[in-house]
Amino acid sequence: MKVLLVSPEIAPLAKTGGLADAVGALARALVDLGCEVTLVMPAYRTILENNSQLEETGMEVEVPVAGRSMRGVILRTWIGKKLPAFLIRADSYFLREGLYGNAKGDYADNAERFTFFGKATLELARRTAPWDVIHCNDWQTALIPVLKKVHSQSYGEIQKTKVLFTIHNLAHHGDFPFSSWNLLDLDMQYFTPRYLEFYGNINLLKGGMLFADALTTVSKKYAGEIRTPEWGCGLDGVIRDREKDLYGILNGVDYQEWNPETDPHIKKNYKAKNLIGKKICKKDLQEIYGLPVKASVPLVGMVSRLADQKGLDILIEAMEDLMHLDLQLVILGAGDQRYQALLDGLPGKYPEKIGVKIGFDNALAHKIEAGADIFLMPSKFEPCGLNQMYSLKYGTIPVVRATGGLDDTIEDYNPSSGSGNGFKFSGYSGATLLEAVKRSIAVTYNRKAWRQLMAKAMACDFSWGKSAKEYLALYRKLAETPILKR
Ligand code: ADP
Ligand code: GLC
Repeated sequence: MKVLLVSPEIAPLAKTGGLADAVGALARALVDLGCEVTLVMPAYRTILENNSQLEETGMEVEVPVAGRSMRGVILRTWIGKKLPAFLIRADSYFLREGLYGNAKGDYADNAERFTFFGKATLELARRTAPWDVIHCNDWQTALIPVLKKVHSQSYGEIQKTKVLFTIHNLAHHGDFPFSSWNLLDLDMQYFTPRYLEFYGNINLLKGGMLFADALTTVSKKYAGEIRTPEWGCGLDGVIRDREKDLYGILNGVDYQEWNPETDPHIKKNYKAKNLIGKKICKKDLQEIYGLPVKASVPLVGMVSRLADQKGLDILIEAMEDLMHLDLQLVILGAGDQRYQALLDGLPGKYPEKIGVKIGFDNALAHKIEAGADIFLMPSKFEPCGLNQMYSLKYGTIPVVRATGGLDDTIEDYNPSSGSGNGFKFSGYSGATLLEAVKRSIAVTYNRKAWRQLMAKAMACDFSWGKSAKEYLALYRKLAETPILKR
């Protein structure tokens, strides 16, 4: 099975969120299953500056973008020994501070940047054919299935190749004004509600969903939720149309990267049978955040993109009451300026109880997983969510809202039977969040019960093996199915 796995971010090369972790770890797990995987992503500034092992391939691609011919130089790097990644270098598009934007917001030319990326990837796929499957991820790659089908005569070498499209987050549409239409090289018949038009704009995600040979999303629960108007982000009709081709496959965890026994970022490694290291990590975290160093106070951690999705409004709603509880709270996040400002003001108000760091800091994210007792994810919706699974491995008990992948991976703790691996709440409000945090804090006072809960959490296995097998089975099924015209 030869698979070209295309994504706008891939760990460890470039990351803004879980998409990078998911694609990077899936690729490695597929290689372990004997699948021949090649990654494709843009050559961002961060990769060019931080990666010394970039090889010239001698390949260049040239594609038309709004009447101009744009050139991409193809570089190659390796993740480990068996996983090659093609990097498409076009400095006018990708040699920038951020992947998708900077502090002022998204880059104004994102439609053009990712149209170029999609077209260049197809050209590269054609030149390096044969491929059984091109596996695309999120809106930045959504043009690939569209152009491959609409302009199939230009891509003879990959005519038999199937395209799988994974939706990591249905809320991000890649929507652009009609003025960007000339970038795409698509006939006007495709700017209709049946195809890429969406309330007067271009919706790239919708195109990907319509033209791919099959779709996946990142948990079974989310695959069900997005069929409904409540969670379908206006695209539930498209999801229902393609229901028989949609699969929910849960993301896994890369335990080479997220494991308290080996984690190089944390103060002291530890394991389920000896938790002394976790106490040292907790002290370290309290020091980093300038909080009183107390072993006994429950320490709640949160690492999150600061976006509406993540439940920050109900966290802020509950803050006053939370601050009356016996706990400390440490937050790491970056994103929406409004949330940054709201959170930034909190330590001044509650200096003994809350620490906030704004920014993207991978090492600190690991330290929070290790040093906290409880990990908070009050998401409004969550396609999969990775941090709750990382937390389990670190014996840091998740408190989550029952949505998407959070609901699929966390079972509510039952104090009488001892069943469950975390704490879940359903209603989306400050009050329900507060109630779940209170329940978790109450259990921390029962040392024996908490120890047992930690041991159970640490024994949970969300490794990629099982999910990677599901992807491989789907690739095989696709490869055997005749191409369908739309
Ligand atoms: P999403 O992809 O929606 O952001 P996930 O839970 O799937 O949510 O994945 C988030 C990933 O990004 C995790 O690996 C988390 O540790 C990381 N992350 C999020 N925000 C930050 C940050 N500010 N600094 C470092 N890592 C972060
Ligand atoms: C998205 C989702 C998150 C998921 C990640 C990886 O960013 O918001 O829930 O875990 O993609 O699939």
